[in-house]
Amino acid sequence: MANTVYLTRRERFNAAHKLWVPAWDDKKNYEVFGKCSNPNWHGHNYDLFVTVKGAPDPVTGFCMDLKFLSDLVGDKVISKMDHKNLDMDVDFMKGKMSSAENIAISIWEQLEESVVAQGCRLHSVKLYETENNIVEYFGGE
Ligand code: NI
Repeated sequence: MANTVYLTRRERFNAAHKLWVPAWDDKKNYEVFGKCSNPNWHGHNYDLFVTVKGAPDPVTGFCMDLKFLSDLVGDKVISKMDHKNLDMDVDFMKGKMSSAENIAISIWEQLEESVVAQGCRLHSVKLYETENNIVEYFGGE
């Protein structure tokens, strides 16, 4: 694509979760998941970076209106995840381990169709679970 520009919007949310395999005992869950296996939940302050790509519109000069992107992420993701329990409250996380990997994939799935409908493409969903633990998803494959 000529003149492809990558545009990123940052949003933040905080949420509770637990990483736990029911078939394993407490010891094994702790060995694999560490503090994320705490039976009574724990929280993270997540930092989310959504990157879209496309050519700037000849009139507006925008690849995508950042207000639109912010509203989209707010509507499809933040309003459903912020101050929620990811394992109990979020419809699109039901039945999934709430690892950062699975959260990033699920967020991608929530956003892709609406981004494409705007004539752009979703490039990546990058999620900071902590400042040191980061996952990035580029779709497909
Ligand atoms: Ni955790």
